[in-house]
Amino acid sequence: MVKLAWLNGVYLAADEARVSPFDRGFLFADGVYEVTAVYNGQLIDLDLHLDRLERSLRELGFPAAPDRGELAAVHRRLIVDNDIREGYIYLQVTRGAYGARDFAAPALVRPTCFAFAEAKPLIDTLAAREGLKVITTPDIRWARRDIKSTGLLAQALAKTYARNAGVDDAWMVGADGFVTEGASANAWIVNPDGDIVTRELSSTILAGVTRARLAVALAEAGLRLQQRSFTLEEAVAAREAFSTSATTLVAPVIQIDGLPVGNGRPGPVTRRLQGLYYSAIGADPGRAAPWLFQES
Ligand code: PDD
Repeated sequence: MVKLAWLNGVYLAADEARVSPFDRGFLFADGVYEVTAVYNGQLIDLDLHLDRLERSLRELGFPAAPDRGELAAVHRRLIVDNDIREGYIYLQVTRGAYGARDFAAPALVRPTCFAFAEAKPLIDTLAAREGLKVITTPDIRWARRDIKSTGLLAQALAKTYARNAGVDDAWMVGADGFVTEGASANAWIVNPDGDIVTRELSSTILAGVTRARLAVALAEAGLRLQQRSFTLEEAVAAREAFSTSATTLVAPVIQIDGLPVGNGRPGPVTRRLQGLYYSAIGADPGRAAPWLFQES
């Protein structure tokens, strides 16, 4: 099926979308993006994604953000026209093309806006069922990781490194020995005392929407969350570990750098949190994820 995309106000076949090679997104990675999960044909937390998009644009000094109502309508239309039940919508906004390579950004911005849809299972996946093996890699990114920039070279290299090592993903570790986050996900552990821990928000990580939603679901279930940094040693010694993102939702991490986390299988706290998250987005865990209830 030809995928329908949206570029600067026009709906078109995704492989017919064209942007200028002078686009500042291409030349300087001068742009930001969002990935919003779709479950059962519904957008998950679109408002939070659009809030973050607007914040990212503000932090990069864009004079204005694209019209929010229009972006929401584009998301909905891409779901319908591409017949997406489960998957995600990708949205990217760059500072646009000005026919020259000038480091300094123009005052008057004509952004390039692009969106496409991808059908993809989010809940019943191998990652969610059986967990991810990760390796760690130094976090070599810039200092403003709270901005969802399209400058993703460090993450792309980290994921390539993981794939070449025969594992599923990479977690990034700062020079201080503390885990920052996954290459495209937030990192969590359950320590030997049973505390659920994820790094506090700052410019060192992206403020994940899935992280935020899970934190609410967890509090509603009467569970406590510790928002603090944890070291790689702590992660390796953890009872359980997991990642959160719009594309993997809540995914157990069962191995770090070749060492099993806990007993090397998804743990009970992670299973419970997966269930809480699936319920929070309107899924029935018993039907959508029956494996949650099997002994591991
Ligand atoms: N990535 N940290 C990083 C570095 C990320 O790139 C992402 C998301 C997250 C999780 O954020 P959220 O829960 O809002 O998806 C954390 C998206 C999915 C991507 O780049 O494809």
